[in-house]
Amino acid sequence: MVCLGNICRSPMAQGIMESMLVDKKLNWVVDSAGTSGWHAGEQPDARAIAAAKEHGIDISGQRSRKMTSRDMEEFDIILTMDSQNYSDVLHTYASDDTKHKVHLIRNLSEPNKNLAVPDPYYDGRFEDVYQLLAKTMNNVLNHLLVEEVA
Ligand code: 4NP
Repeated sequence: MVCLGNICRSPMAQGIMESMLVDKKLNWVVDSAGTSGWHAGEQPDARAIAAAKEHGIDISGQRSRKMTSRDMEEFDIILTMDSQNYSDVLHTYASDDTKHKVHLIRNLSEPNKNLAVPDPYYDGRFEDVYQLLAKTMNNVLNHLLVEEVA
């Protein structure tokens, strides 16, 4: 899960996916990172922690980190939150061999629309973003389950 700061959207996305995987008894590895290292080492934004906690998900143990090229090798799929993150990952980290792993996360839920998960950092709409991520992630997980079986 990749966003800009790795303190708002991608930590919530990671927490939601991890919680769904526990429910499904799947031991897939989920992680998150930022295209920037501006908040490296920090906890998620307090508002993201609070929004997730409202839904029974604890993301307070996460720490922000900047994405690395190694992530492209280690992970099977890289889900980006908006078109800027998407192009940054493609141009900075992906190679011809790995670029197929990179997706705009909402395209797995609403194909070809190129919709963003809006950044709540400035407008504070963390609950709206949480709800959007939860809905999206349900479709993402179903998509990945089909892919794995296929
Ligand atoms: P995120 O949100 O990319 O969802 O973690 C942001 C966090 C911090 C900043 C921007 C977006 N920032 O400018 O510091």
